[in-house]
Amino acid sequence: MTKSVLEAITRQITAEFNASFSYLAMAAWCEHHKLMGAGRWLRMQSQEEHGHAMKLFNFVLARDHAVRLQGVEQPRSDFDSVVAVFEAALAQEQEVSRNIDALYELAFTEKVFAAMTELQWFITEQVEEEKSVREIVAKFHMVKDDPASILDLDRELGARGPEAGAGSGEGA
Ligand code: FEO
Repeated sequence: MTKSVLEAITRQITAEFNASFSYLAMAAWCEHHKLMGAGRWLRMQSQEEHGHAMKLFNFVLARDHAVRLQGVEQPRSDFDSVVAVFEAALAQEQEVSRNIDALYELAFTEKVFAAMTELQWFITEQVEEEKSVREIVAKFHMVKDDPASILDLDRELGARGPEAGAGSGEGA
């Protein structure tokens, strides 16, 4: 693996841990506001992101390189509403998708074929994750401030199973 690809994958490991921590902060906000279903969904997503970081962590080690972990950022903890939580989640996923695309392009340019194969999984995963969060944002916009509908939606989010949400959790 080339130095620049290794450095970019290391940054992506950090980004996935940041995403995991960020989802955990979102889960905390929701549960503090008694939206327990959304909190459960976000906790599961936090675990998925941890799995993504570990998938890249394992890949670096499998390629016989050292892993140099970096610190995570303090996540955002304050939101105006539950829709703002999921809008932030969508923006985060879109940023991750751009990062993965750039990483794939770098691996392609530098002919690091093993990294390209590894990253293909992430490209597919990002399509699914963006889709899931975009649908949730759209539903919260549809129900607006209607408490009964928000509670229904919260219940729906709480029913998320391991396969039902953003991504399958493969590699977690
Ligand atoms: Fe691992 Fe949702 O990005």
